Amino acid sequence: MGNNQVGITLKSASEQAAATIAAMPVRPKTIRCPICQQLCLTYADLAEHYASEHPDSVAPTAVTLNVNGINCNLIFEPHLTLKQVLQYHLGLIGAKEMCDRGACGSCTVIMDGKPALSCNILASECEGKIIETVEGIAVIPKWKPLIDEYCKWDAMQCGYCTPGFLVAAKALLDRNPNPTEYEINDALSGNICICGTQPRHSQAILEAVKLMAEGSDI
Ligand code: FES
Ligand code: FES
Repeated sequence: MGNNQVGITLKSASEQAAATIAAMPVRPKTIRCPICQQLCLTYADLAEHYASEHPDSVAPTAVTLNVNGINCNLIFEPHLTLKQVLQYHLGLIGAKEMCDRGACGSCTVIMDGKPALSCNILASECEGKIIETVEGIAVIPKWKPLIDEYCKWDAMQCGYCTPGFLVAAKALLDRNPNPTEYEINDALSGNICICGTQPRHSQAILEAVKLMAEGSDI
């Protein structure tokens, strides 16, 4: 943790990510009907309540998501995307929603080891999947050089696309720890930056690869 000159305490990216992950609710504190707000003791009570009071509505669904290594028992409306459940139910705001139609990559997470567009996937279909978000990557010391090199090479402007790029880069380095520039550009081809930072991403990743190979944490 560091302090700036006016005495404001700043948290590092990994500290912020760790706090966000620690705050993820592993189960809902209360179960309320989203239509009439009636309090229910269990999910079974909620399902019964829907059947009797709101027979024409689709009941919320109960799903266990494994996010950043933690099993979270969640109840949510079945139309919500993974992106929305990560944000609204788990407080994970790293994955960003830019296009909301699978075209920009800003909402990228890793699912079962592969990059996945969380705006394009129903959360109710993710039971049993292993999901990693940028917060989960930021707390692992091994990936600090990747985050630091992104800052150093100014691979971000507004930064909205950056988490998606970082997650896609981590997925690439998991399967190919020593990629060529061509392989990096290929792996990031589904991610778009409207601020024009595209050329600097490969530079940041190549430098991070070098530092990780040397075992440096900068
Ligand atoms: S917000 Fe998901 S791909 Fe653009
Ligand atoms: S830095 Fe602004 S969209 Fe990429």
